[in-house]
Amino acid sequence: MKVALRWHVLLIGFVLTTGAAFAADNPTPSTKTAPLALRPGHAGIASANALATQAGFEVLAKGGNAFDAAIAVASTLSVVEPESSGIGGGFMATMHVASGNRDVFIDARETAPAAVNPKDYLNPDGTPNRDTALKGPFSAGIPGEPAGLVWLAKHYGKLPLADSLAPAIRTARDGFKPDNRLLGSIEDEQKNLQRWPASAAKFLPNGKVPAAGDIWRDPDQAHTLQLLAQYGNAGFYSGKTAKKIVDAVHAAGGNWTLKDMSSYSVKERLPITLDYRGYKIITAPPPSSGGVAIAEILNILSGFDLTKVDQVHRVHLVIESMRRAFRDHNDYLGDPDFVKMPLNMLLSPYYADGLRQTILPDKATPSSMLAPSSGEDPGMHTTHFSIIDADGNMVAITATVNYVLGSTFVADGTGVLLNDEMDDFALVPNKPNVYGLLGSKANAPEPGKRMLSSMSPSIVIGPDRTAVIGSPGGSTIITQVLEGILAFIDGGDAHDVAAHKRFHHQYMPDVVMTEPGTFDASTSEALTKMGYTLKQREPWGFMNVVIWDRRTNKVDAASDPRRADGLGKVQ
Ligand code: DON
Repeated sequence: MKVALRWHVLLIGFVLTTGAAFAADNPTPSTKTAPLALRPGHAGIASANALATQAGFEVLAKGGNAFDAAIAVASTLSVVEPESSGIGGGFMATMHVASGNRDVFIDARETAPAAVNPKDYLNPDGTPNRDTALKGPFSAGIPGEPAGLVWLAKHYGKLPLADSLAPAIRTARDGFKPDNRLLGSIEDEQKNLQRWPASAAKFLPNGKVPAAGDIWRDPDQAHTLQLLAQYGNAGFYSGKTAKKIVDAVHAAGGNWTLKDMSSYSVKERLPITLDYRGYKIITAPPPSSGGVAIAEILNILSGFDLTKVDQVHRVHLVIESMRRAFRDHNDYLGDPDFVKMPLNMLLSPYYADGLRQTILPDKATPSSMLAPSSGEDPGMHTTHFSIIDADGNMVAITATVNYVLGSTFVADGTGVLLNDEMDDFALVPNKPNVYGLLGSKANAPEPGKRMLSSMSPSIVIGPDRTAVIGSPGGSTIITQVLEGILAFIDGGDAHDVAAHKRFHHQYMPDVVMTEPGTFDASTSEALTKMGYTLKQREPWGFMNVVIWDRRTNKVDAASDPRRADGLGKVQ
């Protein structure tokens, strides 16, 4: 009974207000003087799609925990939100395991195939070939998501993998109504999808973009998920699925081998943890640059009391900290299994002390004064979801196929849309990727190497409230999560954190990106006088946040109002 009621509320919540965030009603009476709660007793899930959030609750109702629910949410997103993430892509998970009070990080990031060759990303005249970097089989890394889901079930879940994958398999087999955002993405990428017959067959049934309200089925993906459910890794990385994927890549001119598939492995890593003003931040380590950058920024900011400075100076200090952290991002970071990174230095408070000294009190520091290192629309094609279960297990997962509809290349007979994550490598030295990020040797492509990511799934444990937070948005992920953490620390609830107005600076280009309404006229004027170039863009991000208030024992979940109200308005 309870479960049926939950879904009902979830769906009403979705239609009326946000996207797919829902926290079950608090069954515990709250009192202000009660001791802090040790377990929430109820769950919250915030994802980019109502069907995915519902899949997560379905699995919780079967007796699963947050990790089983994460499998259900991620695999359902692969079916209903393929423009953003899927089993042809990868994910990063920052998790808190309540029993044992452990924080873990799961790296299910894609890897470069053994035959990777930087020349494949150059035109004959030596200029960057943006097509091979972003479309078709050369743009894809070996998928990590299927192995990540298997890993979650095996090491952290309570249910068999097949139970957690069941909602996605059912949705793919029986069909669903694509939302306007998916239809808009297919429309935008129509020409690319037509380049490969299996892509056109999947996304353009009868040669056309599906109409709003049509039921859309994906029987090939249902079958591929079924094999994964039955055989685990062997069901995807070897056997029929692997062979079909490798054959399809070859038929399209690509260079994957069966060995590339069978040698893929998930990496479990220690997350980055730091203390900022009494809040424990648990976030993503390399091969994400996100956690390092967030830590560096917060370490710099911890030398200022942001509550005691006016708005203009607060923004100034935050931008200058972003600028310095992104400079280091470009220079030092890559796959930890391939490159030595000065993490002790980058994460050290003493290093932050030094950087803080270089911030001028009332003036922007031109990036050109700091050292060398470019911009494009951040796009919104990646997804983040946050889960807290009744026992206090927490999962923050950012999952991606990279740019809209990834490589737009579907491997024939599998329903698997491959990612275009290879563009997250520094494919051509000193040339920007699609997010304007530059990279160095540390992030050069090499066989088996993971490309650097900005994904920053994070958990923030404060004195009396806990937040699970993250967002898509390319390089802006880092600054969105940073600003979300600051809004949470300032006392914001889940809606405040997701709705918080954003600004972004990534060292190069030396501009502060803002959305409409980020700054009022006088703040903009003051910042311009300090030397900042402000550039307004369409709103970006799709933050999904769950917050557990341990004083009242309430769980609160919210989806980014920029998207949830306006699904389909692709910006
Ligand atoms: O891993 C990364 O940093 C990127 N592939 C994420 C891409 C992304 O967020 C796209 N759009 N919002």
